[in-house]
Amino acid sequence: MNLESIQKYRPFPSVELPDRQWPDRRITEAPIWCTVDLRDGNQALPIPMSVDEKLEMFDLLVRIGFKQIEVGFPSAADTEFNFLRALVEQDRIPDDVQVQVLVQAREALIRRTFESLEGVKNAIVHLYNSTSPLQRRITFGDASKEKIKQIAMDGAALVRELVDTIPDTKVDFQYSPESFSDTELDFALEVCEAVSDIWEPEPDRKIILNLPATVEWFTPNVHADQIEWFSRNVKNRENTIISLHTHNDRGTGTAATELGLMAGADRVEGTLFGNGERTGNLDIVTVALNMNSHGIDTGLDFSDLSHIREVYERTTRMRVPERLPYAGELVFTAFSGSHQDAIKKGMDRRDESEFWGVPYLTIDPRDIGRTYEAIIRINSQSGKGGVAYILDREHGFDLPKTMHPQVGQRIYSLADEWGREIPNNEIGELFFEKFVNLKTPLELIDYELDHHSGERGEVICDARLLINGEEKSLRGTGNGPINAFVHALETGDMKDFTVTDYRSQALAGGSDAGAAAYVQVESTENGKGSIWGCGVDPSIEMAGLKALVSAWNLLREESESEEQ
Ligand code: KIV
Ligand code: ZN
Repeated sequence: MNLESIQKYRPFPSVELPDRQWPDRRITEAPIWCTVDLRDGNQALPIPMSVDEKLEMFDLLVRIGFKQIEVGFPSAADTEFNFLRALVEQDRIPDDVQVQVLVQAREALIRRTFESLEGVKNAIVHLYNSTSPLQRRITFGDASKEKIKQIAMDGAALVRELVDTIPDTKVDFQYSPESFSDTELDFALEVCEAVSDIWEPEPDRKIILNLPATVEWFTPNVHADQIEWFSRNVKNRENTIISLHTHNDRGTGTAATELGLMAGADRVEGTLFGNGERTGNLDIVTVALNMNSHGIDTGLDFSDLSHIREVYERTTRMRVPERLPYAGELVFTAFSGSHQDAIKKGMDRRDESEFWGVPYLTIDPRDIGRTYEAIIRINSQSGKGGVAYILDREHGFDLPKTMHPQVGQRIYSLADEWGREIPNNEIGELFFEKFVNLKTPLELIDYELDHHSGERGEVICDARLLINGEEKSLRGTGNGPINAFVHALETGDMKDFTVTDYRSQALAGGSDAGAAAYVQVESTENGKGSIWGCGVDPSIEMAGLKALVSAWNLLREESESEEQ
């Protein structure tokens, strides 16, 4: 913005609350949750959900564990009305779920809303009118405070009166001074108390006073001050449920809600993934999983977040952004090598403590149905631990530590050359192509081991080899299969190395792969270092010999590339 533009804005006032308590409080338990996906969320969609899509979303919200679900604005449109009727007629509302209906404080709308509730067992009637100076002046043409308060009171009185028309429905009452966040606090309180006086809340039918940040005008600490001030001053507090309904205009809807809870609120309204008007409503998934990550049970089940996201994206035609906490495609992906190394180390030491403690990951992705597959992707910026980690987790290869840099460098240089990221399955394929059972120029066709004919403890190896297309049979002896094979190569004048390390492992999964072996050889020619090769075979002995042949071939590949 240029200076001229900036000058048309001014700072918002703060709240006079010198003895504020909320900064020292902690969130220790979950609030009452109410989802407004089917109302605030739906009304903000470029293409609103059809009745069938709403039914699917409703079932999903029930499965997640919401006990209060705002199902719409039934007096606003026939589809909204019909949706609630479909829920009732198809007997889809569980007994422990309250459906909430929103209505403006206008007589005709309130009457129509009560008609829509016929047959509902548990309902919340949510009445609202706008209270802020800006709305009073602009939207309601310089309406006085008295007039605004009277609208709320008339609406509340009619709601109370109409409850008798649906005697089989338990009705709870909710009032929202819409645009609370920029309403004078004492006026918001005055209107809320006037409504509360009419509804006469009791312990088994408390009033819900929902205090919306309809537009997020301030930093979240100001919202917390407003909530604490209201909570400390409202009369009949014990029979009042204070509810938060934040929007996200400044990008701090989550923070405002969390601080609002510290300030004494009892209930939270929001949507999945923050869908809603403009920048959206509060993202309930984030707030609930933030609580889980501090050891607080929320009653909401996001253990299959990918499925929830799939239903959400399909029914709303919205997309969950890649970096949205918990649900975004990339939030469990580390591209940087140092992050990848730290994550691998953290994962390897998971058993050391009962508490989660993996660098860079606030929660275990598996707890929300995300897989480790997505944690690390390899590109040219990745570190040596990344490839080894993927080969281990995704493909079952437990590479010796000193082999990590060799394999890592090979894969990263390909990522660099191709200028793209290499997905996990391709990493497995490349590992096979570049390191496992290599056959050129040397291929081991067959071998036989004789443990009996030689001296005690000695093995005789008869190997059939193909070298540059030419078949050779070689025999060697040694104190084990590898040594015997090395000796056989020596007899064929093919030994220009010494074996410096050997490991083997069983491959999990019961496939016919059987075993993997890793052999490190060091060139006997000065200055040419050591190199690892890998062999995979149902027989562990053959895997070892194939690993040696792979290393032998890699040694030659290395020499060739150095000569070029
Ligand atoms: O944001 C808001 O103020 C609302 C009210 C209707 C509660 O959605
Ligand atoms: Zn809203």
